[in-house]
Amino acid sequence: MTKVSQVEFVKADNLKVKPDPNSLQFGKVFTDYMFEMDYDIEEGGWHDPKIKPYGPLSLSPASYVLHYGQAVFEGLKAYKQVDGSTVIFRPEKHIARLNTSNERLCIPKIDEKLALDALTQLIELECDWVPEKEGTSLYIRPFVISVEPYLGVRPSYHYKFLIILSPVGAYYSDGQLNPVKIYVEDEFVRAVKGGVGHVKTPGNYAASLLAQEHAQKKGYEQVLWLDGKENKYVEEVGSMNIFFKINGEIYTPKLNGSILPGVTRDSVIELVKVWGIPFHEERISIEDVFEAHKKGELEEVFGTGTAAVISPVGELRWEDKVITINNNETGEFAKKLYDTITGIQYGKIEDKFNWIK
Ligand code: COI
Repeated sequence: MTKVSQVEFVKADNLKVKPDPNSLQFGKVFTDYMFEMDYDIEEGGWHDPKIKPYGPLSLSPASYVLHYGQAVFEGLKAYKQVDGSTVIFRPEKHIARLNTSNERLCIPKIDEKLALDALTQLIELECDWVPEKEGTSLYIRPFVISVEPYLGVRPSYHYKFLIILSPVGAYYSDGQLNPVKIYVEDEFVRAVKGGVGHVKTPGNYAASLLAQEHAQKKGYEQVLWLDGKENKYVEEVGSMNIFFKINGEIYTPKLNGSILPGVTRDSVIELVKVWGIPFHEERISIEDVFEAHKKGELEEVFGTGTAAVISPVGELRWEDKVITINNNETGEFAKKLYDTITGIQYGKIEDKFNWIK
C-alpha cells in the first residue's frame, strides 16, 4: 500500500491572490494546490500520490469518463474555528462514502487512511485559504474519474483521484437559511431502487438538471423528488435530503437504495435523537405531507446537505396544490439545527459527537 510519507510535493511558482471573504460565492474560486493520484492496472493499483499546483488536466478525448460517466465525487468542508484552528467536518464518513460510490461504479477502492492523510496534508498546506467569516468555509471536492482512452463498455483500467479546494460562501445566492420554494416533481425521477441514487456520481446531477430548469421557469428554486416507481413517496429535495416537522415530531424518508445517505442528514438524526425528540425514519407519501398541512400539523420542512447545511422550505407546489409552510419563514427548529451544526463547525459549541477532525 502506498505510504502517505511518499506524497510528492510540487511547488507552485506563483500563489494566487485570495478572494474577498465578503463576496465569496459557491464553487467559483480554487486554491493554489490540488491532490492527484493515478490508478493503472499495469502498475498494480493506485500509485504516485502528489500535491501539485492547481491546474488543467491533460486528458485524451477518448477518456472513458467523457463518454460513459464512470466517475464519483464527494463534498465536505473545512472551517476556521473561533480559536484560529482549521478543522474538517466528518472527513472519515465522506471518504467511506466515496468508496461506497467507487464500489457501485466499478472503480477500484482507495485506501481510506491514505485519502484522509492526503486530505489533511492538503488542508494544512492551504489553511490560509479557509475563510474566517461566519457562513464561509473551504469546500473540499474529492473525485475520481476514469481516464482510459477506450470506447468499449467495461470498467476503465485507468483512473485519477483528485482533491480540489474552493473557498465558499452561501450555496444559494440570496443567503443562508432563507426559505426556498419547491416544486414537487411529477414527470421526471431522480433515481430508482437498484440504480445509482444512493451514491454520489455525476450522472445523478446531470439527470436532475432538466427538472430543475422546468421548476425554475415556473418560479420554483428546486424540485422535490418522488420515488421512481409509484411517484408517490418523498425521496430528496434538489441535491439534499429532506426532513419534516409534523406535530412536534421529526420525519425523514428511510434510506431505500435510491436516496443518498447524507452526512448532514446523519448529523441531524444524531442531534434529534440526543435532544429526545420523537423521530421517524420511514416511507413518507406526498399525500400525507399535504394532509398534515391541511390539519395544521405541518410545522416545518427543510433540506439538509453539506453545501447549504440546512435549507428551509417555504412553499411546496404539488400538481395544482400550493401550500405555504411556517408563513414562508425560517422555522425555529431548522434554525436551532443550523446554529448547532455550524456552532460545532466553527468551534463555538462543544463537539460531543467527535465530528470535527
Ligand atoms: C450537498 O450539499 O451535499 C451537495 O451534494 C450539493 C453539491 C452537489 C453542490
